[in-house]
This record gives sequence, structure tokens and C-alpha cells, in this order.
Amino acid sequence: MCAYRCKIGPSILNSDLACLGDECKRMLECGADYLHLDVMDGHFVPNITFGHPVVQCIRKSIGDGPTCEVHMMVSRPDQWVKAMSESGANIYTFHLEASDNPQQLIKEIREEGMKAGCAIKPATPVSKLIDLLHTQMADVALVMTVEPGFGGQSFMRPMMEKVRELRKAYPHLDIGVDGGVGPSSIHHCAEAGANMIVSGSAIMRSNDPRKVISDLRGVVQEVIQQTSLER
Ligand code: DX5
Ligand code: ZN
Repeated sequence: MCAYRCKIGPSILNSDLACLGDECKRMLECGADYLHLDVMDGHFVPNITFGHPVVQCIRKSIGDGPTCEVHMMVSRPDQWVKAMSESGANIYTFHLEASDNPQQLIKEIREEGMKAGCAIKPATPVSKLIDLLHTQMADVALVMTVEPGFGGQSFMRPMMEKVRELRKAYPHLDIGVDGGVGPSSIHHCAEAGANMIVSGSAIMRSNDPRKVISDLRGVVQEVIQQTSLER
């Protein structure tokens, strides 16, 4: 049996933000395993989205059960750990490039009762993330497959080498991909060993998000199944 399972996390960045609660509920009804909430501060990335007050409203709207990952595209990720935990975030994913002391940050995130995720931008070598995980394990490694800041960009296939290296080093880790992931790129992600699939526009802009979610899951599960048979 493979130690990791496929989880699909729609990114609601390109949804109708005036109806965020309903959009989140719609995604969960369509089979999402978790919600990926993109927090941008206009400094780490050239765009602003929302912060913990909005996460708190989403939590109120969807109830206690569903898992929410906050993808913190912010310059001072240590600043928001407590507020995000109190607002109902379950996974706190910060950028390695933004943190002076990622080991300590991972500990603080866990002390606040959340899982810790660490993300890397396209220009950051995967060896930096692997080195961090060797000294301080995180719960999620997130490989950006676009330059963070905007939804709807094209998938960067060369990033799959990073996923492959991470999977080789950590056979049981939750490894995510984020940016331009949809039906035409999912097989690259699955074959490289990703199991947490963040997908924004491909799901949100579809007339049949349920089908997109189930198709993405189908591709990843098939690869996971094959991998465990080969072992
Ligand atoms: C990009 C965000 C992504 C993005 C995903 O900065 O972190 O989560 O919204 O959206 P798509 O799938 O449209 O690239
Ligand atoms: Zn994201």
C-alpha cells in the first residue's frame, strides 16, 4: 500500500469572491478534499487577496469539518500563525523564501495546532527544501508550478523534477503542486509523485467542476495504485 493518498484542493482565487462562502461549499459538495486559500500581501507577491478575517468567515460558513489550507504568499509568515489558527485554518503553508527561520516557524505552526506546509517558488532549488526537511520535517511540501501571485497561468512542467526528487527523498510525505494544474497537466504531476493537487481555474471555470475533480483524482489514484503494485 502507498502511504500517501490523493487529495484535491480547489483554489478559490478565481471564484466569485463576493460569494466566497457559497463557492467554498459548492467545491466541497463537488468532492473537494480540502480548500486551498491563497493569501497575498502585495509585497511578497504583486497582488493582494485577503487575510485571516476572511478565513474566519469562510470557516463560519462551511462549518468545522472541512480542511482549509492557507497558502501564505506574504513577506512575514511568522506574523499570522496565531491569527490563522484562531480563524480556523488547518494547514499553514508558508514560503521558504520569506522565512528567516523556517525550522522555528514549523514548530510554531504545530504548537498552534495546525499542520505545517512549506512552499517553494519556481526559482528556488528543491535542495533548499530537502535540506530543511532533513533538519525539521514539515507536513506538506508545496512545489509552485507557476510564479505565485495570480491564478490562470500556464503550468511549468520543468518543476516536475523537484516533485520527483522530493518523492524520492520522502516516500510518505504529502507533496503538493500549485499553479496551472488541470486535466492537461495532471498526469505529469501524478507521475512525478504529487498527491496534493491544487487546482484553481481548471475547476472554478468549468461547467462541471464535479467531473474535473473526479477526473483529476482518477489520474492521481491510478498512478498511486501502479506505484504500490510495482513495489
Ligand atoms: C498562485 C496561487 C495558486 C493559483 C492556482 O499564486 O498560489 O493557488 O490560484 O490557480 P490556477 O490553477 O488557476 O493556476
Ligand atoms: Zn496557492
